Amino acid sequence: MSFRITSGILLAAWAIASVSATGAQEPQAAAAPAASTAVAPTSVLQGVYSTEQAKRGEALYADTCASCHGDRLAGGEMAPPLSGPDFLANWDQQPLSDLYVRVHEDMPQDNAGTLTPAQAADAVAFVLSANQFPAGTADLVSDKDVLQAIKIETPK
Ligand code: HEC
Repeated sequence: MSFRITSGILLAAWAIASVSATGAQEPQAAAAPAASTAVAPTSVLQGVYSTEQAKRGEALYADTCASCHGDRLAGGEMAPPLSGPDFLANWDQQPLSDLYVRVHEDMPQDNAGTLTPAQAADAVAFVLSANQFPAGTADLVSDKDVLQAIKIETPK
């Protein structure tokens, strides 16, 4: 009898100890995903490219895109605009990877497939900056999995 009570108390003490041990570990476990969210943005509103990168993209745009899409990204005779309400309506709620893939695989339309992944990311950065999306501190990467997680959305 007294053995059972003692073991009951020990069991209870063990249960409390393991609960508080789990409790002590929770903040650590929660800190890891929070930290990775900070480096992996989920929206173009979070500053997903750098100003330097957009400048590189601007130079590339002038050389390889402007002939069709216009100096001011307003579109041309055949090519659609790459900035403004029509463009944003096309892409709102789409993953940034879709825009990247369109640029990387299909553009420039008369010479498709000639952009390196880094050049395509630079061009996308320029298009984002031209559409008033904020710059951040790091370059936009050309990793489709990372871009897939970033949603194109217009400010509400
Ligand atoms: C020879 C003309 C031409 C050149 C050069 C060109 N494009 Fe295009 N682009 C088009 C046409 C035409 C379309 C529409 C048909 C299509 O989507 O393929 C288009 C579509 C696009 C779209 C999709 C727009 C939308 O809202 O659906 C993007 C983004 C784009 N181009 C980016 C670029 C970038 C960036 C460059 C430079 C690296 C570039 N294009 C160079 C002709 C061109």
